[in-house]
Amino acid sequence: MAAASTHSPAHPESVFTYGTPQLKYGPGASDEIGYDLSQTGANRVLVVTDPGVAATGHPQRVADQVTAFGIEAHVFDGTHVEPTDESLRAAVEWARAHGPWDAIVAVGGGSSIDTAKAVNLLTTNPGELMDYVNQPVGGGRAPVNPLNPLVAVPTTTGTGSESTTICVLDVLALKVKTGISHVRLRPTLAVVDPALTRTQPAGVTAASGMDILCHALESYTARPYTTFERKGPAQRVPYCGANPIADMWAEKALSLLAGSFRTAVRDGEDTDARGRMAMAATFAGMGFGNAGVHIPHANAYPVAGRVKDFHPEGYPGDEPMIPHGMSVALTAPEAFRFTFAADPERHLRAARLLDPRAEQTGDPAEFLPTVLIALMRDIDIPGGIGAVGYGEGDIPDLVEGTMKQQRLLATAPRDVTEEDVAGIFRRSLTLW
Ligand SMILES: NC(=O)c1ccc[n+]([C@@H]2O[C@H](COP(=O)([O-])OP(=O)(O)OC[C@H]3O[C@@H](n4cnc5c(N)ncnc54)[C@H](O)[C@@H]3O)[C@@H](O)[C@H]2O)c1
Ligand SMILES: [Zn+2]
Repeated sequence: MAAASTHSPAHPESVFTYGTPQLKYGPGASDEIGYDLSQTGANRVLVVTDPGVAATGHPQRVADQVTAFGIEAHVFDGTHVEPTDESLRAAVEWARAHGPWDAIVAVGGGSSIDTAKAVNLLTTNPGELMDYVNQPVGGGRAPVNPLNPLVAVPTTTGTGSESTTICVLDVLALKVKTGISHVRLRPTLAVVDPALTRTQPAGVTAASGMDILCHALESYTARPYTTFERKGPAQRVPYCGANPIADMWAEKALSLLAGSFRTAVRDGEDTDARGRMAMAATFAGMGFGNAGVHIPHANAYPVAGRVKDFHPEGYPGDEPMIPHGMSVALTAPEAFRFTFAADPERHLRAARLLDPRAEQTGDPAEFLPTVLIALMRDIDIPGGIGAVGYGEGDIPDLVEGTMKQQRLLATAPRDVTEEDVAGIFRRSLTLW
C-alpha cells in the first residue's frame, strides 16, 4: 500500500542525521561510574536526583563510588517530579551557588535527567532559563559554550532522556509544557542498569512504559525525512523525521515491549521483564531522539499542563498531576486511527509487532488502536481524557494548547487542523 502523503516538497530532503551518547547497558553498569568519571579528568561532580530516587540509595551509592576515585561528589536531591520553570531555576541557583562543577551525573527518571540538562546548560553558559526555552514561549537561544560531561543513569523505563537532546519543563504561569532543545544537551554517556529499575512503582512503570511505546510508535509513523524541504547544514534540527536507522530502533523497541510490558507492571521483581523494558526505553530513545514524535506528544502537553485535580497512584505527594507517559497515552489510540491513512502498512506492522494476533478480521485502521486499548486496560491507564477530569467544554482549550506545539506537529504524517485535533480529543474522552 502506498503512503498517502500530504507533503510533496519542491526540493526533497536527501540527508538525515543520527546522534547518540556513548552507552553502557546491563545489570551492574552503574557500579562503574566512578571509574568512568575518573577517565574524564573531573574533580568536582554534581549528582542530580529527586527525593523518591534518593530514598532508594542509588544516588548516594554513585556519589560514594566517585569519591573512591578521589573525586569530590555532592548530591542535589531537589528535582521536582515533572520539572517546572520554578524547580529548574531553583536547581540552577543551587548548582551555581555550590559550584563550579566539571561533570554531572543524573540518577533518576526523565525528571532528574532533564533537571541535570538544564543545570549543565546554565552552569556553563550565560543567560537564564527562559532565554533558552523553545520559541515562542522562550527566546530559543543556543548555547555558546560547550557543556560539561553529563552521565545519565535512568531509574525508570520510559523517557529515553538519557539519549535525547531535550529538556522538558512546565512553564507554570502560562500553564504550558515546552522544552529546551539543542544537540549540546545530549548526555555524553548513558548508563542503563536495569537493576536500578526494580523499585520503580507499578504506576510509574505503567505510565513511563506508555511513554516508551508512544516514542516508538510516533517516530515509526512520523513524516519521513524525505518529505521535508531540503535544509542547509545550519538549519538541521535533531528531529529529522522517520528514517531507516530510527525505524530499526522503533521496531525493536515494540518487539521488546510486546514480551515484557504487562509482566513488568504486574511483577516488578521480574528481572527479565525489567531488562527488556530498560532496553526498549533506550532503543526507543535512540529512535525518537532523532526522528521525532508527533500528535500524541503534542496533545500530551496541554493534557498534562492544564490538569485539574487528578493524582495518579505511585507518584509522590497529592498535588494534581498527569504523568507524562499517561498524558501521551490518553489520546494515542485516536491519534493513530487518524494517522492510519498516511501509511497503513506501518500502522499494521506496528500492531503486529505489539500483538501478533492483531491482524485477524475487521477494519485494518482499528488494529493498532485496539491493541493499544487492550494494553492500557490491562495496566490500569485511565480510559481517556474524561477519566482524568476533562469534559467536552475543555476541548477548545486543549486544542489551543496542542496547536502551539508546531515543532511536534511538523513531524505528523498528515497535516493536522484544529478540527482534526478537536475530533481526536472528543473521541478520546471515553476510550472504553
Ligand atoms: N528529555 C526527554 O527526552 C524526555 C522524553 C520524555 C519525557 N520527558 C520528561 O520526563 C519526565 C518524566 O520522567 P519519568 O517518566 O522517567 O519519571 P520521573 O523522573 O518523573 O519519576 C517518576 C516517579 O518515580 C520515582 N522513581 C523513579 N525511579 C524510581 C525507582 N527506580 N525506584 C523508586 N522510585 C522511582 C520518582 O521518584 C518519581 O516520584 C517528564 O517531565 C517528561 O516530560 C523527557
Ligand atoms: Zn515522551
